[in-house]
Amino acid sequence: MEIIGNPTQFEIKKAARALMDGHLVGFPTETVYGLGADARNIDAVRQIYKIKGRPSNHPLIVHISSIKQLDHLTIEIPEYARKLALDFWPGPLTLILKRSNLINDQVTGGQNTVGIRMPAHPIALGLLSNFEKIGGIGVAAPSANKFGAVSPTTVSAVLDEIGAELRPNDMIIDGGQCSLGIESTILNCTENLPIILRPGIVTTELIQNSIGNKLRNKTSGDKIHFSGSFRYHYSPRAVVVIGHSAGVGDGFIAMSNIKTPRGAIRLGAPDSIENFARDLYLFLRLADKLKVKKIFVSPPKGSGIALAVSDRIFKAAGQKNL
Ligand code: TXA
Ligand code: MG
Repeated sequence: MEIIGNPTQFEIKKAARALMDGHLVGFPTETVYGLGADARNIDAVRQIYKIKGRPSNHPLIVHISSIKQLDHLTIEIPEYARKLALDFWPGPLTLILKRSNLINDQVTGGQNTVGIRMPAHPIALGLLSNFEKIGGIGVAAPSANKFGAVSPTTVSAVLDEIGAELRPNDMIIDGGQCSLGIESTILNCTENLPIILRPGIVTTELIQNSIGNKLRNKTSGDKIHFSGSFRYHYSPRAVVVIGHSAGVGDGFIAMSNIKTPRGAIRLGAPDSIENFARDLYLFLRLADKLKVKKIFVSPPKGSGIALAVSDRIFKAAGQKNL
């Protein structure tokens, strides 16, 4: 596998060509690193599931670089979904829509819907637009980690997760640390009102402001198949516990204004909610590097981004969704 840092235009084109030839490309987005494959190449998509150890009925998000791809890949786009795409793309928002026949079962886990996202990271956008220029329709890309593990926000995390499984012609593009640090907001847009399936940096408030006061929260009756809703997700090897009662040798993560319990190992002390989101997965990975067995995490309080960060913390701890 080839790792490219500070890619030139030529190298981005080469990576787009590698995708077209059926190879996998790990690439940075503003949220987390993705492991990309040509969404139309069934073998390449299967290889992603194999590397991640992901059950084949868990759908992948298809990444695009231009709005016109949205009309190719999906059907019956509600007016509100188009408005959200215009307002938040490129950016950390994934829209779940009914799929067109250009999308195959391997990508969607057999569902009749597909998740579409236009990432804002210039390397990701460059890769996707070059891929579209040579005839690609979209790049299927999950986070570049093993199923259930913490998403990678740096290339060294990508290598720790899946480096050993990549083949000689696969590539990884290094774009430094991802600036947002948690995965995109996922919005089910297949009904008359949108439903947030995974909270993120595009918050409920931002969505409501964009489309008027119309938003439904996920209910247990929703049938949509969604792997982020499994009990353990985004989990490090260490046990994650919610709260402050860390003892000697336990890890501790909390906002910087919260004191470290005596004898605990401070893994992270973000001074803003944005930095908490950006660095959360680094803190969790640091625990595993230091061979800490138990991590106590104090979830940030409040709505908006705090809610998205708390969601990942509760999932890492194996607790039910917020
Ligand atoms: O920020 C992100 O979204 C990152 C970057 C790489 O773009 N991607 C990402 O992908 O987080 P992944 O596969 O790790 O998580 C995508 C989630 C999964 O939980 C999947 O089940 C859900 O999106 N999903 C994808 N397509 C779906 C669909 N058609 N219906 C319901 N859920 C879907
Ligand atoms: Mg993931």
